[in-house]
Amino acid sequence: MDDLQRQLDELKEQGMLRTLRSVSGPQGPRVVLEGREVLLLCSNNYLGIANHPRLVEAACEATRRFGVGSGASRLISGTMDLHRALEERIAAFKGAEAALVFNSGFAANTGILQGLTGPDDVIFSDELNHASIVDGCRLSRARTVVYPHCDAAALERLMRAEQPARKGRWLIVTDGVFSMDGDLAPLAELVALKERYDALLMVDDAHGTGVLGATGRGTAEELGCLHQIDLHMGTLGKALGGFGAYLASRRPVIETLVNSSRPFIFSTSLPPGVLGAALAAFDLVESPEGRQRRDDLRRLQKQFCGLLERGGLDLMGTRTQIVPVLTVDPLTTMEVAARLLKKGVFVQGIRPPTVPAGSCRLRATLMADHRPDELEQAAGQILQSLAEVRS
Ligand SMILES: Cc1ncc(COP(=O)(O)O)c(C=O)c1O
Repeated sequence: MDDLQRQLDELKEQGMLRTLRSVSGPQGPRVVLEGREVLLLCSNNYLGIANHPRLVEAACEATRRFGVGSGASRLISGTMDLHRALEERIAAFKGAEAALVFNSGFAANTGILQGLTGPDDVIFSDELNHASIVDGCRLSRARTVVYPHCDAAALERLMRAEQPARKGRWLIVTDGVFSMDGDLAPLAELVALKERYDALLMVDDAHGTGVLGATGRGTAEELGCLHQIDLHMGTLGKALGGFGAYLASRRPVIETLVNSSRPFIFSTSLPPGVLGAALAAFDLVESPEGRQRRDDLRRLQKQFCGLLERGGLDLMGTRTQIVPVLTVDPLTTMEVAARLLKKGVFVQGIRPPTVPAGSCRLRATLMADHRPDELEQAAGQILQSLAEVRS
């Protein structure tokens, strides 16, 4: 094991070592991190509902009625009523024919891409897509053509070049909101391309669902093309506050995945408590309280980004509650994050391989129940800590 330790020591010297930190209590806007209260600026609990009494009660009620476990994969011990109820709810929410839940976003992306595409097919994938999409492309054994970030014109050139050798299915896959940048995919342009070239369009809306669009249906609703997306993938563990993921699509897509998607077929399905909480989360997202929380989040985002931009920081084109602050190199990034933590602000430094070399950043994520005054203070501390490290 000496070689492993040597590798870890090298990572530490380069400012690239990852370590775990202990949080006590629920994921609120403030948490107790290793014994000290800090402002949590790195949770994807965007609507602030991970500890909402209605979700907690729904999880308890589902557990009391149906137990703590689902027993097996759904093809083995059966689909529970709650799986069906949640899938019907998700399909209605996204305006799709059917839906299928997966055990996590990572399992969904790997399982959807592997289950729908094979060696004769081509996947066109944005260069900044999430790691689970990258791994899904690899597992599918489809030819993967990576296109420059959000560049629909470049994508069309690549599609045209592939056309003469076309054999099988074509699938364009993109994050809706890019998880490390907070910008949005050019969905209207991708819809036009998928129609022109007879391809399927899959949108991973892990960071848009619940948050974007007038009714929280996500990036496609925000950009006016909710009904033109073939495959709506999303997660239940971010704005929806719980755990798990889903695909909403046409019925043949869902039935194909039930027959082909290895993470769906060969893994114990989501347990009742998680399913019950997810149903309550969709109720909340669609309620007046959900709308209020979305509005609050947008207001906070405007305020926080305005303060950082007026301080001269590069926020990398974000349009959402994910606020990256470009810091470039890993050592600066981690030093600033460490200083912020000392000042009571918990924000993550993001380094390769999560982002390309030379684009390290602080990634602050906002929650609807952050207070304007605490975000104002945090923005000041970010500006101050960066100035200290750069001076
Ligand atoms: C864009 C995107 N897709 C998928 C995932 C994976 O989702 P999960 O955390 O549910 O596995 C993430 C997680 O951060 C993500 O950012």
